Amino acid sequence: MSKVHSKYVCQSCAYESTRWMGKCPNCDAWNSFVEEVTVPKTRGRHSGSVQSSNTAIPITKVPVASEPRTSTCIPEFDRVLGGGIVPGSVVLVGGDPGIGKSTLMMQVASSLRSLVVLYITGEESVHQIKLRAERLEIKPSEKLLLLAETNLDVITALLEKTNPDLVVVDSIQTMFRPDFESAPGTVSQVREATAQFMRFAKTRNVSVFLIGHVTKEGVIAGPRVVEHMVDTVLQFEGEQHYAHRILRALKNRFGSTNEIGIFEMQDKGLREVTNPSETFLAERRMGASGSTVVANIEGTRPLLLEVQALVAPTSYGVPQRSSTGFDSKRLQMLLAVLERRVGFRLGQYDVFVNVVGGVRVDEPAVDVGMALSIVSSLKDAAVDPKVVAIGEVGLGGEIRMVSQMQKRIAEASKLGFKRCIIPRRNVKFRNGEIELIEVESVEQAISKALTKT
Ligand code: TYD
Ligand code: MG
Repeated sequence: MSKVHSKYVCQSCAYESTRWMGKCPNCDAWNSFVEEVTVPKTRGRHSGSVQSSNTAIPITKVPVASEPRTSTCIPEFDRVLGGGIVPGSVVLVGGDPGIGKSTLMMQVASSLRSLVVLYITGEESVHQIKLRAERLEIKPSEKLLLLAETNLDVITALLEKTNPDLVVVDSIQTMFRPDFESAPGTVSQVREATAQFMRFAKTRNVSVFLIGHVTKEGVIAGPRVVEHMVDTVLQFEGEQHYAHRILRALKNRFGSTNEIGIFEMQDKGLREVTNPSETFLAERRMGASGSTVVANIEGTRPLLLEVQALVAPTSYGVPQRSSTGFDSKRLQMLLAVLERRVGFRLGQYDVFVNVVGGVRVDEPAVDVGMALSIVSSLKDAAVDPKVVAIGEVGLGGEIRMVSQMQKRIAEASKLGFKRCIIPRRNVKFRNGEIELIEVESVEQAISKALTKT
């Protein structure tokens, strides 16, 4: 009889301890320890002498794997993966509950009509999945197999039997091994379930998509080790109250991590957004103060967005600073620059900023635009609606160069903008009719962009 051990495991970093602790000494998380009971394995994998036919080989002798990627027929999804699904890869798809992960994976699964896809659901019944498929108006296919199961032993046996080309696991937190005593969703269960699907994917060269929930802190529930184990981590994000959804690669062993896919949630499922700039600017109020259009680059794609600011006198002692979709530290920095370098007194004002459409930007190239919106709202003077502002703001109040200027200008020109505020030092690219306004400082940008001051 093997002895049963009990240990306490931090649910955010998998740190183990023999006793309960309020704060994890490894990752500083509070209240993250959960008791987990494990039965040690009786069969040791490394017992006795190791016999293996494995040898080291020169890199030149390694055959080039020209594995063709499988296209999903959803270009936005393929792009984020780096050009399609790589056989044998394990992809974790994370996101808040209700954001549309199951919908996305159902659409992907059904678009791969030539492959046998096994959709394992641990959260919904097969009837619910069927209802969703009907709502999505998916053409029924004999090759799309549904399985409502959470027991990994049963799943392993069924994987052998059905021999699928692609597996979707919805969600990894519901899967459990019956010989582990800890509850599904705990670190040991999630880690073990991931390891089991990894082994299956690698030995059979079958791609596996694992759906994972995100905790309220914004990390994929379960230990970080799961993110380290899988080949690709995709994040599906968006504001619950907006229809736009952005799929982002946080980690990708088979492609770049800065590509995004943009979708819109409609009543018949997710639709790709092929002209995102137009969509995001559709509701802009021309000539309103506190609004500027910026050119952001996501991966290789330019995206025109509206950044808004509202500056209002403080009614309480401490002025509020609040930002949605924009880094709050960056906002503090911009306010300090406007205060110290340009001379605006903002200490008596609340400042709210927002990136329209539920999009999050973290590129410094939108700094100038944000600064213009703030000043525009403060002075109640509109920013020229035909202007796109591009440039990073430095601590000295200077406008600094940004990369990929050509793409940004081309996008602005395509959408009918007439003027572009750009950093003086940037390489110039003429594009059609667009007028380039070179600026060196925030002050200059303000005087050129604001219609009346
Ligand atoms: P779902 O894929 O179940 O989310 P997750 O798996 O990430 O928890 O989708 C949840 C939301 O999407 C739900 O609130 C309803 C909405 N939705 C639509 O608006 N249109 C649709 O066609 C579908 C299937 C869902
Ligand atoms: Mg779901």
